Amino acid sequence: MHFYEPRQGHGLPHDPFNAIVGPRPIGWIASHDAAGVLNLAPYSFFNGFNYTPPIVGFASLGRKDTVRNIEATGEFVWNLVTRDLAEAMNASCAAVPPEVNEFELAGLETAPSRLVGVPRVAASPVAFECRLTQIIQLQDANGQGLSTWLTLGEVVGVHISEHLLVDGVYDTAAAHPVLRGGGPSDYFELGPRFRMKRP
Ligand SMILES: Cc1cc2nc3c(=O)[nH]c(=O)nc-3n(C[C@H](O)[C@H](O)[C@H](O)COP(=O)(O)O)c2cc1C
Repeated sequence: MHFYEPRQGHGLPHDPFNAIVGPRPIGWIASHDAAGVLNLAPYSFFNGFNYTPPIVGFASLGRKDTVRNIEATGEFVWNLVTRDLAEAMNASCAAVPPEVNEFELAGLETAPSRLVGVPRVAASPVAFECRLTQIIQLQDANGQGLSTWLTLGEVVGVHISEHLLVDGVYDTAAAHPVLRGGGPSDYFELGPRFRMKRP
């Protein structure tokens, strides 16, 4: 077994951590600042953390525009990245000044949300309207504060394209979600499904 202590370095050509904790769903987060300037960015340190009420969260390495916007407005929208939206998602990660609207940068249209002021990505078949619940600064094992911000929000509205509801059941595979993992440029699509009942 290759063993390493991350604080001493991994001794490999590429840090495997990101490739091991994967593939991950992508948090494609729309937000706007206090003046209404729109923002859209992908975050793959993203997941769901609670059922009732549903809560999603993402980690920003550094206090990025998305976190600042959500702190200012208390709202954001998560959008599902499907295979046909992968290139637009990638374009939306460009390191541009806060006044640049990544919807326009990536050639995406907005669609209005119902309960929050932030619009969603019109072309995405699933979106969660979210209200901020917590912004948590991560810390290391010594209690030292890190410049990483876990932003959590309650999902207060859910949009699902009808074609993904098969007899009322959400069809994960039919959405062709894009998953992040592997090396710096690697993405995955879903593999075959298998079923297993809990004991
Ligand atoms: C697939 C993908 C996943 C990303 N995941 C993260 C992440 O989890 N955390 C993070 O801080 N940045 C992540 N980034 C980089 C941000 O998207 C990038 O810094 C972006 O410019 C931030 O935008 P903002 O400043 O408008 O919030 C990711 C980029 C890509 C393409």
